[in-house]
Amino acid sequence: MGMTKKEASANYMREHQDILSCPLCQKEMKVTEESTVICENRHTFDLAKQGYVNFMTHPAPSMYGSELFNARKKVIDRNLYHLMYETIVEQLNLYEKDLIVLDTGCGEGSHLVKIKEAYEQSGTYKMHAAGIDIAKEGIVAAAKNYGGMMWYVGDLAKSPFKDQSFDCILNILSPANYSEFQRLLKPDGVVVKVVPQSGYLKELRDQFFVDEDKKTYSNAKTVERFKEQFKEVTVARITATLPLEKELVPDLAHMTPLGWHQKEVINEKSLSKVTIDLDVCIGKF
Ligand SMILES: C[S@@+](CC[C@H](N)C(=O)[O-])C[C@H]1O[C@@H](n2cnc3c(N)ncnc32)[C@H](O)[C@@H]1O
Ligand SMILES: [Zn+2]
Repeated sequence: MGMTKKEASANYMREHQDILSCPLCQKEMKVTEESTVICENRHTFDLAKQGYVNFMTHPAPSMYGSELFNARKKVIDRNLYHLMYETIVEQLNLYEKDLIVLDTGCGEGSHLVKIKEAYEQSGTYKMHAAGIDIAKEGIVAAAKNYGGMMWYVGDLAKSPFKDQSFDCILNILSPANYSEFQRLLKPDGVVVKVVPQSGYLKELRDQFFVDEDKKTYSNAKTVERFKEQFKEVTVARITATLPLEKELVPDLAHMTPLGWHQKEVINEKSLSKVTIDLDVCIGKF
């Protein structure tokens, strides 16, 4: 009989169980043959059938639901973000070794999968990848769509990982937790934070916001904060305007909480292109 998805995920998590620490008591954890994750004090977390573990000790309401994550997956699958992956992989290639990477606020996981694929295709080294998100719907989608990675529901403020477990921490369009990043990172590890810049999805914002001052924004403060945290910092700006297929317009509209400010109808014709404008901030403690 073949392995179930849950068993395959449990095996992969077991190979990397040395990164886990109990979110309740911080003791070491083991992944059992029965596909549960259990600490020395017997706090127990089950693998779900899709192959993820929920480490939340109480449910957290999230603004992000399955509709948003499905829309994000469709947009990300169109490869609008490939310049971002190239910039990140270029940086990671400097390590010349197998890496273990954590994506914090990974959502439905597509960026992490594409970064892993790009890294492994660029050379001979492997990437072991874990994604964590507080939104269960995101992790359910990630685990359903992508095997061979570790998917965890958890709060970055109480993450189920040991100190100095990761070579790289990714934080893509998600809130940061710098003290936690510092704790989780190996001494020579790197943090990659991706921040939207002024032109990011500007065609969408032009459509959605009646309010003029919401049509533009700046993330200068976020980048400044990043620079304050690290010793060595580089910031690469990635800007591209790409043609947009009509079918993708509704997904684009639903992929961000911007959708909440949606006017009644979107004029599909005026959305024939979309701009990606990101700062990729790279830092070492
Ligand atoms: C805009 S989404 C980005 C998701 C994904 N990185 C992407 O680019 O598609 C922000 C994500 O951060 C997650 N998030 C917010 N606070 C978090 C926390 N304290 N711990 C873990 N994830 C968190 C949200 O649930 C959401 O999935
Ligand atoms: Zn425990």
